Amino acid sequence: MAPEPTGQHHIYTGRIIHSKTPTELQILQHGSIGVLSDGTIAFLHDQAISPDDLRTKYANVGFSHASITILPRPQFLFPGLIDTHLHAPQWPNLALGMDSTLKDWIETYTDPMEASYHDTEKAKRVYRDVVKTTLRLGSTTVAYNTTMHVAATNILTDCVLREGQRAIVGKMCVTTGSTNENWEASTRESLKGSEECVRYVRKMDPEGRLVRPCVQPRGGPYCPPDLMRGLGEQVGRWEGCHVEAHMCETEADIERTLELHKGFACYSDMYRAHGLLANRTILAHCIHLQPKDIQNIVETKAGIAHNPNSNTCLRDGICHVRDLLDSGIKVGLGTDCSAGYMPSIHSAMRSASDVSRHLAMRTGEERYVLKFEELVYLATMGGANVLDMEEEVGGFGVGKRFDALVVDVRDVVGVDESLWEGEAEGDAEALVRKWVFCGDDGSIRKVFVDGKVVAGQDVA
Ligand code: GUN
Ligand code: FE
Repeated sequence: MAPEPTGQHHIYTGRIIHSKTPTELQILQHGSIGVLSDGTIAFLHDQAISPDDLRTKYANVGFSHASITILPRPQFLFPGLIDTHLHAPQWPNLALGMDSTLKDWIETYTDPMEASYHDTEKAKRVYRDVVKTTLRLGSTTVAYNTTMHVAATNILTDCVLREGQRAIVGKMCVTTGSTNENWEASTRESLKGSEECVRYVRKMDPEGRLVRPCVQPRGGPYCPPDLMRGLGEQVGRWEGCHVEAHMCETEADIERTLELHKGFACYSDMYRAHGLLANRTILAHCIHLQPKDIQNIVETKAGIAHNPNSNTCLRDGICHVRDLLDSGIKVGLGTDCSAGYMPSIHSAMRSASDVSRHLAMRTGEERYVLKFEELVYLATMGGANVLDMEEEVGGFGVGKRFDALVVDVRDVVGVDESLWEGEAEGDAEALVRKWVFCGDDGSIRKVFVDGKVVAGQDVA
């Protein structure tokens, strides 16, 4: 028999909403979730039942003395949001630089900003703000991009552990293709720093309970073949190591990649040849894909971070999310700050909806419109799939971690008591729709990661 869990276990009861499948929500009108003191979900119950009866029913898994929180009707539990792509160092540039397109934007705004992170005091100040703010906005898990600085990258690792966010962190690698201020001196140095950061993450969180390491080739134009090869070797050496990289963001980006990496027919052939495409690879953008790229992604089970706000701001193009999903490719949402101006995945759901509708208009094909249920899926379970964390987060289920939001729709435009008191499934779905389209992050009252409150009313 499994040992009886110790410590204070907790039961949350009320409305619980999450993705059942990519196209279907599961709505528990009077549900209960039992969370062990270590943050594991022990049960999910979907019928109205009194607190005492719940304690009795689940006494055999340690809940006979559990504390119980009963959510009032305007509130519901929702899975923590997952941001599959955010550049932490670009934070001070949010909403600036929207006059540029990709290459010019990197050289004018991004390079000078990223180069400044040799200043560790700045890294401490900015990264603390990034982590605290994204938690407040409901991002319980974030895949972070960083800079070429080892010390600053390790500070980000410290920040996510201190604030209790789930994250993927690694050092940005770039030795060419950009302005001088943002180059590393050599492939050797770039690889050495990358490995130091992987080692640091593994030292600080050996089990990967909250933070996991990645290697981070910025993209084809920024990392010559020997650097790509070395990073592929690192991934092979560090079991479970993720890869975060940009791919096929613009046509020019693809041309520059194929110029630096001779002999490849398409962008993804290059990553694949260096051992950088696998199920823990997170590819940002993937707007301008060749059929061979799609095939490579499908065969290697790599995932895609769709960044609709950023793609719109830089005018990169429109990602054909429907085609990716139809091919069986894992897709999640990313904010891609600061190319995107909004560090909120709640907001990214709306952007994803908008750009999918623009694509439908441009092509005359209605199928490109992303359905509401799909938007929820991309923001939660889809992101978990992309990060290879689907066994742990992205929704509520026995054995998963309790990463969750308490959403309160009382102040959302167009929501009134008749809706939140409504018992029909449609009423509950309308609550979520109205929160997503008419509400904002102000409705997120509490944020849990691993069963602990990490942002919201209980947190200073
Ligand atoms: N391609 C290479 N670097 C970047 C970056 O920082 N942001 C975006 N959006 N694309 C990139
Ligand atoms: Fe990016």
